[in-house]
Amino acid sequence: MADADQCKGSMKIQTEDRDRQSAGLASPLPSRYGLGEIVGQSHKMRELYDLILEVAPSEAGVLITGESGTGKELAARAVHRLGPRKSNPFLPVNCGGIPGNLVESEFFGYKKGAFSGAHIDKSGFLEIADKGTLFLDEIGEINVSMQVKLLRALDGDGYTPLGSNLVLKPEIRIISATNRDLRDLVQKGGMRPDFFYRINVVPLYLPPLRERREDIPLLIRHFLEKFDPDQTLPRIPGPVMARLEQHDWPGNIRELQNIIHRYAALKRLDVFDLFFENRGVGKDSTPDEPGPEDLGLNLSQAMAQFEKRILLHHLEKNRWNQTRVASFLGINRKTLHSKIKKYRLEKV
Ligand SMILES: Nc1ncnc2c1ncn2[C@@H]1O[C@H](COP(=O)(O)OP(=O)(O)OP(=O)(O)O)[C@@H](O)[C@H]1O
Ligand SMILES: [Mg+2]
Repeated sequence: MADADQCKGSMKIQTEDRDRQSAGLASPLPSRYGLGEIVGQSHKMRELYDLILEVAPSEAGVLITGESGTGKELAARAVHRLGPRKSNPFLPVNCGGIPGNLVESEFFGYKKGAFSGAHIDKSGFLEIADKGTLFLDEIGEINVSMQVKLLRALDGDGYTPLGSNLVLKPEIRIISATNRDLRDLVQKGGMRPDFFYRINVVPLYLPPLRERREDIPLLIRHFLEKFDPDQTLPRIPGPVMARLEQHDWPGNIRELQNIIHRYAALKRLDVFDLFFENRGVGKDSTPDEPGPEDLGLNLSQAMAQFEKRILLHHLEKNRWNQTRVASFLGINRKTLHSKIKKYRLEKV
C-alpha cells in the first residue's frame, strides 16, 4: 500500500474514533490506526472493534478465540479498559502454566500454616481480581474439578481460602481466551457444559493475519515506529514488502512483530527464509517474484544469510549430526561448530 493510502486509511480511523468519542464510547487509549493498542483497519477488524465496544460496558463473560499471536490478550485488555471496571485490576492468568496440585491454592489463596510450606497468608487470584477482571488465558487447560469450584465461587456460593473458615464472595468479570476448540473439548468430557456456557456468553473471534493481509503494511509501520522511533533503518524495499504481504504468517502478529524487532536490533531484515519457503533453495523463481537480490543486503550480509540457510538445511536433514554435515559440506567439525555458534543456530 502506498504511503498516501496508508495516511488516508489512518485518517479514516481517526474520524471513526471521533465518532465513537461523540457517542460516548471513546477508547481511553486513542490510536491512529485502530482501537486502543489494537492496530488494524481491515473490515474484519472493524467488525471486531464494534463488538468490543458493544460488549465492554456490560458485565458479560467474553470468550476470545483465535490462533496463537492474533492479539487475544490485547483484545481482552481492550474489553476491560472500555468497561466499567477500568480502574480496578485486570489480572491475566495462564491456566496452562499452573501445576494441577497448585491450582486451587493459586485461585483461592491460603492462610499461613494451611499446609507445610505456607509460611505466610497468600491472596488468591479471585481476591486480587475482586471488583476487576480475571483474564483466564488458555482456559481449555483448566481441569474439570477446578471448573466446578470456580463456577460455584463465581456464581453465588463463594469460596474459602485454604486454612481459612471465611467464605469470600468475589465480584469479578471473567474474560477467557483459547486457541482450542472448546465445543470439541466439551464433547470429549474435558470441559463441563455449564462452565462452557458461563464463560462463553459473548464470543469474540480474532481472525488470523493471512485473512486480513491489508493490515500488514499498517502493522509493519506501527512496529517500525515502536522499535525504530528515530527512523534510523533504511526503508523496506518494495519487493520485500510485497513478499511480507504474501507470507502466510503462521505465528500471526507476534511473528511479524518479531521480524521487525529483529530488523531494528540487527539492522538487517531477516526475511531470507520467507523468500524461499515456497520455492526451496536453488529452485527457479519466476521473473516477477522478488529474489534474495531484492532484500537490500550488501554482499557479505547476503552471503551470511545464504550460509546460514544452507547450514540449517543440512543440520536438520541430518538430525544435527555435525560429523556427517561437516563431512558433506567439506569443512571440519570445529569450523561447523563455530558457524553454528556464530549464527546461533538451534534445533527446533
Ligand atoms: N492488532 C494488533 N496490533 C498491534 N499489536 C498486536 C496486535 N495483535 C497482536 N499484537 C501484538 O502481538 C503479540 C501477541 O499478541 P497476544 O499476546 O495478544 O496474542 P495471543 O492471541 O494472546 O497469542 P497466544 O495464543 O500465543 O497467547 C503481542 O506483543 C501484541 O502486543
Ligand atoms: Mg495470549
